Amino acid sequence: MLSILGAVLLFFSVFPFTTSSFVVHYTSSGGICQNACGYHGYDYTWCQQKGGSGKAWDYCSLEEGLGASGKACATSCTYWGSSYHSCYFEDGKWHYCGLIAQREYLAYSEDNYMCIDNCRLDATVGYFQCNTVLGSQRCSPFHDITPTGFPCHSNYRCAKYGHSVYRCHTEDNENKWDHCGRKSLDPCVWILFENSTSQADICTLPYSQKKDKIIFRRESRNEIVPFAKEDFRMAAHFIDGISSTTSFPDTVDLAHVRFYKQENIFCKGLNYTNMELWVDISNRASAPIAHVIFPDILDAVEVLRLAFYTSLHSTFYQPAYTITVSFGEPMLCSPDL
Ligand SMILES: *[C@@H]1O[C@H](CO)[C@@H](O)[C@H](O)[C@H]1NC(C)=O
Ligand SMILES: *[C@@H]1O[C@H](CO)[C@@H](O)[C@H](O)[C@H]1NC(C)=O
Repeated sequence: MLSILGAVLLFFSVFPFTTSSFVVHYTSSGGICQNACGYHGYDYTWCQQKGGSGKAWDYCSLEEGLGASGKACATSCTYWGSSYHSCYFEDGKWHYCGLIAQREYLAYSEDNYMCIDNCRLDATVGYFQCNTVLGSQRCSPFHDITPTGFPCHSNYRCAKYGHSVYRCHTEDNENKWDHCGRKSLDPCVWILFENSTSQADICTLPYSQKKDKIIFRRESRNEIVPFAKEDFRMAAHFIDGISSTTSFPDTVDLAHVRFYKQENIFCKGLNYTNMELWVDISNRASAPIAHVIFPDILDAVEVLRLAFYTSLHSTFYQPAYTITVSFGEPMLCSPDL
C-alpha cells in the first residue's frame, strides 16, 4: 500500500516543487533585521539589526501595515520628517514601524551584509558590487565566482574554511583568498522530474512570471574544451552586460567572448531563443562555454543572467550543462526538432 502511494506520489507530486521568495524586514531606522522580527518577550516587535541607527536592536513590523505595537496602521509607514519610520493609528496615536520587502533571492556582500539591490558589475572598478545598509560593497554574482569574476580553483571551492564568511582560492600556488558567494543561497535545487514519457533534471526558481513558476532544465553537453580562468572572468562580465532579454551586448572588436545565436526552437506554441556564449581559447579555436535556451516571452533579465551563470559555472567545473528556461512545466523539445 505504502509503496503504491509512493509510486503515485513520485508520478504526481515531484512537480511542481515550490519555493517562496525571501522576506526582508527593515527596522524603523532603515537597518535590516538579522534575526526574526518578533516580540522577543516584550510588548512590541523588534529585531537585532545591521545598519540603521547603529543600535543593536530596533523596532520592526511583523507584517506590512502593522506598527511595532502589533496594531494596524491607519497611515503609511514612513519617516514623517524624523529619522525613524512610524505610522499613525485611527485613534491618533502613533508607534514605530518598519518596511517589509520581498526579494526573489538573496545575495550577500563580502562583509556578509545583505544586498539591497542586485549584485552587478561596476566596469569602472572592475568588480561586482551591490548596495547594503552600509553602502556599496563587493559581492559575488554567483556561487564559486569572486567579485572580480574569477572562478574558485577546483581544489579550493567556495566554503567557509573555518571562517565566518565564504571564500576561496583562485590559484593553486597563491595564498590569496577572496569572497565567493554563499552556497546556501544558490537558487537552484535540482530534482528529477519524471512522468511516464519523460525524465529531466529541473529546478524551480523562486521567481514567477504571470503566476507561472520559472523552471530551469539542465542537460549535459559534450563538446567541451578546457578554458582559462581569465576567459571565465571575461564571460562573467559579458553576461552581466545582458541588459534585457532581447538585447545582448555587442561584441567589441578583439573581444574574446561573444554571444552566438543558434536556430530558434518552436515548442508547444512558444518560440525559444537558442543562445551560446563562445570564447576564443587560442588564436585558432573558439568554443561554446555557456548555452541557454529561453522563451521569447521571458521578461526577467536577471533570470536570463542566472541561466548563463549556471551554464558557465557547469562548463568550468564539469559536467557542462545547457540550461533551458521555461514556465510552469519543463521544456522537453530538443534543438534538433
Ligand atoms: C521566432 O522568432 C524569430 C525571431 O525572433 C522569428 O524570426 C520567427 O519567425 C519566430 N518563429 C515562430 C514560429 O514564431
Ligand atoms: C510529461 O511532462 C511533460 C512536461 O510537463 C508534458 O509535456 C507531457 O505531456 C507529460 N507526459 C505525460 C504522459 O503526462
